[in-house]
Amino acid sequence: MNEPVVPLDDDRDTGTVATTRVDLEDVDLFARGEHHAVLAWLRRHRPVYAHPARDGGSFWVLTRYEDVLSAYREHTVFSSECGAMLGGSFRSVRDSAAGRMLVASDLPRHRMLRQVFQPMFAPAMLDAVGRQITHLVDDAVRVMLEDGGTDFATTIATELPAGALMAMMNVGHAEAHEIVGLTRRMIGFRDPTYVDTTGDVRLRLASLQNDIFDFFADLVRSRRRNLGEDAVSMLIRARVNGRPLPESEILYNCMNLAVGGNETSSYSACSGLLALIENPTAYDALLARPSLLGGAVEEILRWSSVNAYVQRSALRDVEIGGQLIREGDAVTLWSVSANRDEAQFPQADRFIIDRSPNRHVSFGSGIHRCVGATVANVELTAAFSALVSRGVRLSLAGPVRRLRSNFILGTTSLPVRVVD
Ligand code: HEM
Repeated sequence: MNEPVVPLDDDRDTGTVATTRVDLEDVDLFARGEHHAVLAWLRRHRPVYAHPARDGGSFWVLTRYEDVLSAYREHTVFSSECGAMLGGSFRSVRDSAAGRMLVASDLPRHRMLRQVFQPMFAPAMLDAVGRQITHLVDDAVRVMLEDGGTDFATTIATELPAGALMAMMNVGHAEAHEIVGLTRRMIGFRDPTYVDTTGDVRLRLASLQNDIFDFFADLVRSRRRNLGEDAVSMLIRARVNGRPLPESEILYNCMNLAVGGNETSSYSACSGLLALIENPTAYDALLARPSLLGGAVEEILRWSSVNAYVQRSALRDVEIGGQLIREGDAVTLWSVSANRDEAQFPQADRFIIDRSPNRHVSFGSGIHRCVGATVANVELTAAFSALVSRGVRLSLAGPVRRLRSNFILGTTSLPVRVVD
């Protein structure tokens, strides 16, 4: 492989410039937080880049806002049936979830499944999510204030998906955390914080996915005996073309809900808090004017871009930026890069809580735009309201640890101290 070499920041002490190779499959690049430098280089020099793949072949990397946004919107050119994550399936061209899981479906199946999902995000459900999360986060913040600090990543942030699952799936607190633990291990399948990283990585991922299916198979069985108004019951009751969803599709879509929602919102909260701590002027402004929270949440979403990229496969030959992408090629849309594109966001590398306009692509765009975006917004607003309404100021109390993943940009440890 002959990937370009990219300069990182100057080392002021030695006057040397550190470099790294363009290798977006290197999860440690992301764990070290060096991916922004590589993506900025690609935006400038190779905006449509044929990236060599470790298991042979290559995949295209789109890094500019304009290219990423149009690829999201051109669902007739770029198929989702290969699965959103590189190597997420056993490199089959069609993912095993193709046409069965919302995120891995193309039209017309996608439209039918999306209609099944829509009622799960009705206003009454959003209210219930907001109430549940406020309750859990208030408790966790009270404990943090008593203790003088906490690991925000493991105590407070995890209450966001837990609260959402309690409200949406009608499960208890312990069960909700069990689901969060399962998805955390699956998304963290390359991180020793969560799993034993020895052995075959593909088999490990498949086994972690099976653990999630097993959990939901039990939950579906119990809901079938006693249907309610929760998301799982909605999937069981759904009719598509007059027929109920097969068991496998119910399970795939339970998994889509859990994996789609669990890591993303909690890791966004971690990134957002870290950004506030590192930008004291923004933190001060938010504490002084809580009405800035709506804009701050949007900036947190742009800044964190927790879902770094999604994968598509080209349904026909297409040219982007002078490069010919051939039918069947894998194409990755790097939202984390698009969200830092200076051509769209002036001072893109600055965290500006009243940024306007702020048309980030953290939720994607087009027909697959995150169906849970409203829930994510409710979750983040509830979490930061709990801090801002009490005037809680936090500072870092130890090293921040990032997830070993190039797909979900997570924070596995964020130790904070309460500032008096
Ligand atoms: C900050 C939080 C979140 C972020 C950054 C995020 C990001 C995304 C992105 C980028 C997509 C588009 C995927 C694609 O185009 O292939 C997506 C889709 C999806 N998300 Fe989210 N998400 C978040 C929260 C949630 C929540 C809370 C839920 C559920 C409760 C959820 C469930 C889903 C589902 C089911 C899809 C598939 C939609 C479709 O294919 O039509 N997400 N999300």
